[in-house]
Amino acid sequence: MKPVKVGLCGLGTVGSGTFAVLSRNQSAISARAGVPIEIVHVGARRDNPACDLAGVKVSRDIFDVARDPEIDIVVELIGGTTTARELVSTAIANGKHVVTANKALIAEFGNELFAAAQAQGVSIAFEAAVAGGIPIIKALREGLAANQIEWLAGIINGTGNFILTEMRDKGRDFHDVLKEAQALGYAEADPTFDVEGIDAAHKLVILASLAFGMPLQFDKVFTEGISQIAPEDVNYAQELGYRIKHLGIARQTEAGIELRVHPTMIPAKRLIANVDGVMNAVLVKGDAVGPTLYYGAGAGAEPTASAVVADIVDVARTLSVSTSQRVAHLGFHALANPNPNI
Ligand code: HSE
Repeated sequence: MKPVKVGLCGLGTVGSGTFAVLSRNQSAISARAGVPIEIVHVGARRDNPACDLAGVKVSRDIFDVARDPEIDIVVELIGGTTTARELVSTAIANGKHVVTANKALIAEFGNELFAAAQAQGVSIAFEAAVAGGIPIIKALREGLAANQIEWLAGIINGTGNFILTEMRDKGRDFHDVLKEAQALGYAEADPTFDVEGIDAAHKLVILASLAFGMPLQFDKVFTEGISQIAPEDVNYAQELGYRIKHLGIARQTEAGIELRVHPTMIPAKRLIANVDGVMNAVLVKGDAVGPTLYYGAGAGAEPTASAVVADIVDVARTLSVSTSQRVAHLGFHALANPNPNI
């Protein structure tokens, strides 16, 4: 069977993790996809011994990957929104399917990119953009498809949760823990995004769009981060039987969909109050199923790679079906149902 050929742009934390997971588990992954999957071209700023060993072509210019006629799927893992937006647009214009972990790109430019992808009959998959390895996009789109979603709330920034946990359990200094989160590859290139709630706001609008069938509206999120939380706040909360967690909340109200990201005091006995370290958790309340909870690592190389590779498998599976079925399966359903009440 003709293999599905993947071009990988970016070999940072998540890119290297994706390369490692795909190489290590290639035969099991290909068996699940029903078609062999191969990384054949990497766009990266520097040489990588793993690519040399695997005999994979490496280009300094990532746009060479997006234009490579051999490639079926372009995986965008460079981050940021300027070059990434151009790269994804170029890939789409060249008829490539796109897999991305880039929440800022989807939250801020998703509406235009999904429209372009739909016009070209290609898909953009973005499971890795929210909550690292937790398959929350698939849960909302597939597992909860029967439900009207009433609300969702989650710890959706691993760096912030790691900082709050270390401050509470070990009395560590905020900046010291942030440095460790950067060294562990959890934090964004600009960690202000993590500690000021911007990263969580990006993720929240993506979740809300899928949950409530509304366009991506990043500018509508009330956003407050954790940078003003002092050790005393963490300790007083603990004494009172609460834990401070940074939550993203999206809720159906009579006035429309409310979107907010801020620190929250949660009773210590609640499940979500006990989600610690880099772990994320998302609670979703559907009218039929009731409350559901999704838990897992929210950042880091291989947990995020797990979601990237799951999307590659999904796209690879659909490459054997017709274009219209493919777009219906992987396209952005929210675009077809904009909610004016926001
Ligand atoms: N900086 C992000 C976080 C990475 O800490 O959650 C995963 O999106």
